[in-house]
Amino acid sequence: MDKSIVKLAPSILSADFAHLGKQVGEAEQAGADRIHVDVMDGHFVPNISLGIPIVASLRRVTRLPLEIHLMISDPDFFLDEFTEAGSDAFLVHWEGNNNLHRTLQRVKVLGKRVSVVINPATPAAVLEEILQDVDQVVVMTVNPGFGHQPFIHTTLPKIRRARQMIDQIKPGCDLEVDGGIDATTAPLVVDAGATVLVAGSAIFGENDGVVAAMKRLRAAAHQATT
Ligand code: DX5
Ligand code: ZN
Repeated sequence: MDKSIVKLAPSILSADFAHLGKQVGEAEQAGADRIHVDVMDGHFVPNISLGIPIVASLRRVTRLPLEIHLMISDPDFFLDEFTEAGSDAFLVHWEGNNNLHRTLQRVKVLGKRVSVVINPATPAAVLEEILQDVDQVVVMTVNPGFGHQPFIHTTLPKIRRARQMIDQIKPGCDLEVDGGIDATTAPLVVDAGATVLVAGSAIFGENDGVVAAMKRLRAAAHQATT
């Protein structure tokens, strides 16, 4: 795989919300490809985070695509409002959705990019029937709900399986990984076939700032051996 095509998606969950515009501006300046926005409802995951007003505010300060990771119980219910606020893409979980195909089609009708997300305990096999309907697959490399958790190494074979399925069924579909991505784990996931890296604490939680952290992460991703 051409490592120069690996994209970085900073997750604002670890940003300093008192300086969010500034930090997102730094990420944009440092070459971020998109901004990852984690939405949690305290029900689908055991944490609450942020919502529609933050997306509307971000839309005014960045031209980067805003991808919305919906960790909420009823994603369909909020798609219109997030779209009106300026979202460009939705990441929807396979887990807990009895009508996933309908949710994916609703996002498409809104004219937005759509991803299916699978949790660490969910096998890659579930992707087979829905790959044709998505623009991107997201493999969670931590259990969703919190930033700054350790990378779960048993997800690496699954990333490889997802890569094989994408190559066979839908070449060109992005493969994103989310959780515990830093300079140590980035080469591992790129070797396994990931093309988009979400990173929160490794970008917004570093002492030397967002620009230096992104540079370090990009260099690490390029160290991958394949
Ligand atoms: C976790 C979120 C992640 C989180 C990643 O539920 O989906 O996007 O922000 O944070 P780090 O990169 O710190 O693991
Ligand atoms: Zn996320």
